[in-house]
Amino acid sequence: MTQDFNTNFSNNPLNTTITDEVLEKIGDKVLDQELRPGNFEEYIGQEQIKNNLKILLTAAKERNHPPEHLLFYGPPGLGKTTLAHLIAKETGSQIKITSGPVIERVGDLASVLTNLSPGDILFIDEIHRLNKTVEEVLYPAMESGQIDIIIGKGPSARTIQLDLPPFTLISATTRVAMVSSPLRSRFSGGVFRLEFYTESEISKIVSRSANILNLNIDNGAIDEIAKRSRSTPRTANYLLKRCRDYSQVLKKQLTKEVVEEALSLLSIDRRGLTAMDRSILSTIIEKYDGGPVGLGTISASLSEDEATIEEFSEPYLIQLGFIERTPRGRVVTAQGYAHLGIDYPAERQIKFA
Ligand code: ADE
Repeated sequence: MTQDFNTNFSNNPLNTTITDEVLEKIGDKVLDQELRPGNFEEYIGQEQIKNNLKILLTAAKERNHPPEHLLFYGPPGLGKTTLAHLIAKETGSQIKITSGPVIERVGDLASVLTNLSPGDILFIDEIHRLNKTVEEVLYPAMESGQIDIIIGKGPSARTIQLDLPPFTLISATTRVAMVSSPLRSRFSGGVFRLEFYTESEISKIVSRSANILNLNIDNGAIDEIAKRSRSTPRTANYLLKRCRDYSQVLKKQLTKEVVEEALSLLSIDRRGLTAMDRSILSTIIEKYDGGPVGLGTISASLSEDEATIEEFSEPYLIQLGFIERTPRGRVVTAQGYAHLGIDYPAERQIKFA
């Protein structure tokens, strides 16, 4: 049975449905308002970021000035958007929310910026997907609170300069390397990397959420959900809700065993790997002798988008030490083999020791 939990999901009809991308797409709905921490004290983990933010916000308040622009980056579901909401709450500001791909043209950004009120927070999610021309309009807006708009075309075109109300831009990205350095350097309040959570932090988050949802759940069940949550609060809350559904429908107490049943039905194994994560490992091992193999090749083999693999699966697999990124491509480690119950080849023990 233990072995089955880890490897034997190939006949499961849900195999391809619960990918990390699905978790991500439904993420914001999953982490609905009711579970979102309402203040910094309720926000568990990311201690260093919280401490830095508290100083930054207090200093800004004392100077009677909006906080400087901030960029949060890191894998999905770690609480970047939540931090932006908390900052808005803490500073008593309104938050206006948009995202990189939504702002297609310069006019879209101009409209967003000119509609801000003094002291507002503008949150731009997926900032790495902002196109170059739009990005260039953002520079003077961030630096000196002005935008230049070109009106008309050809010889009669003229530029007008608009003064913007003082505002704070908070941005988030899962792909910080895709944010150009001129843009990155304009986040004068700081660029913060969110870290994966420890298992005990995730247990606290699950316990808090279970309380809010009024669930009767024991510690064994909480810890089992935490173990399978990919060190990610959004996943933890999602899994908690799925376990709640399962226990409700089957009229079972929410125990460790029931969590195991519910999550194996979703193809989520003991370490929190999804069917896609396991396919990445097994493809590298079975088709490419454990690697190194390029991301493009893995993506073609699995018919899965490169960005999805890179953003959603890899960070956690790397965090677990199941794969390594090398200059020649991805390599599955001895632990990665062990997780799938496959013997680590003797020749690799010498080569990759
Ligand atoms: N819900 C989601 N993220 C959280 C966090 N970091 N702390 C508390 N509750 C959360």
